[in-house]
Amino acid sequence: MAYEIVATGMAVPPRRVSNDELAQKLDTSDEWIRSHTGIGNRHIADEHTAASDLAVQAAQSALHMLVERDPSLGGSYEAAVQSLDMVVVATATPDFYGFPSTACLVQDRLGAHRAGAVDVVAGCTAFIYALETAAGMLALKDSRRRALVIGAEILSKVTNWQDRSTCVLFGDGAGAVILEKTDAPTKGQGRRGLLRSILGSDGSGGEHLILRRGGSRNPYRAGETLDLPPVIEMNGRAVYNFAVKAVTDTIDALLTEEGISVEDLAWIVPHQANARIVQAAAKRFGIPEEKFFLNIEEYANTSAASIPIALDEMNRSGKLHRGDLILMVGFGAGLTYGGNLLIW
Ligand code: ACO
Repeated sequence: MAYEIVATGMAVPPRRVSNDELAQKLDTSDEWIRSHTGIGNRHIADEHTAASDLAVQAAQSALHMLVERDPSLGGSYEAAVQSLDMVVVATATPDFYGFPSTACLVQDRLGAHRAGAVDVVAGCTAFIYALETAAGMLALKDSRRRALVIGAEILSKVTNWQDRSTCVLFGDGAGAVILEKTDAPTKGQGRRGLLRSILGSDGSGGEHLILRRGGSRNPYRAGETLDLPPVIEMNGRAVYNFAVKAVTDTIDALLTEEGISVEDLAWIVPHQANARIVQAAAKRFGIPEEKFFLNIEEYANTSAASIPIALDEMNRSGKLHRGDLILMVGFGAGLTYGGNLLIW
């Protein structure tokens, strides 16, 4: 059996905030942000929008693509929705902490009555984990055929907008893919789908990127007034150093395990956290930077959403061709890291 991405979708809030706009309220500049991160803009949700809202929009867009691509659905969007066996949402900014899961909210809003639903939490690596999780769930039962896998984040609501060292980095968005179990070959000529993944963690670095308040370790107390909502606290330098090593080690390990070289890859799709992390990884492998797909200039770091947003942009702009070998690689809070290797 092969596990193939057969449709993609994405959604970002309409409000686009440039570096110059941030610099009007904050001691920063377009020059600093671009030169240190590669970020030029980010899309920011309004106060009424939650992660599930963007997740549903991205999912609908992927489902419409599925309808166009799968003749057995007879052009029916409703049939596409009812063909879903699982809804998996990768997010660090769920609508509600704990429960209900954002995946259940999405399942309900789509009306995917046959589908199980679960959230995956692994910081910015969560989409990499979610893809492998979804493939595993499809593999374990014959009757499960399709999973909707979404990365969705509203980071703007857990960002300290007075902290220039973090708030310039993040944006809101969602990306979705439909993962299908098919009988395409998994070996030799014409093979397709997910080939292998690496999922790693180093929990000793948890303090370097943390949402400290609101969980069972630091619950809110009666009568307490908060100066700030729970916000991202980050040791940027520690995360940067971890990220460069995680990205290079993961690329290295996936290539070695598969017995291929970097020249065999059509694309590397990295988590979009900082263009400088990508440049450092490219230098280490002697890879042309053009092999890495980057859209961080437009969306900033959308955490678990960044890789599926990138996939959808690449797919819709004709950058992905059947048979292309693609390596996705991510890192993030936890600390976590990982990668997926797949043939489009
Ligand atoms: N504008 C202007 N100056 C700034 C800004 C800003 N927005 N932010 C920081 N500075 C200043 C600092 O105050 C410091 O000034 P000082 O020397 O006078 O003290 C100077 O710039 C350098 O600061 P550094 O933190 O050393 O800057 P660095 O080059 O390390 O870049 C950055 C910081 C961009 C955050 C980098 O460390 C980074 O990208 N780290 C990885 C972060 C990341 O990827 N996080 C997401 C992980 S994924 C997830 O799960 C959410």
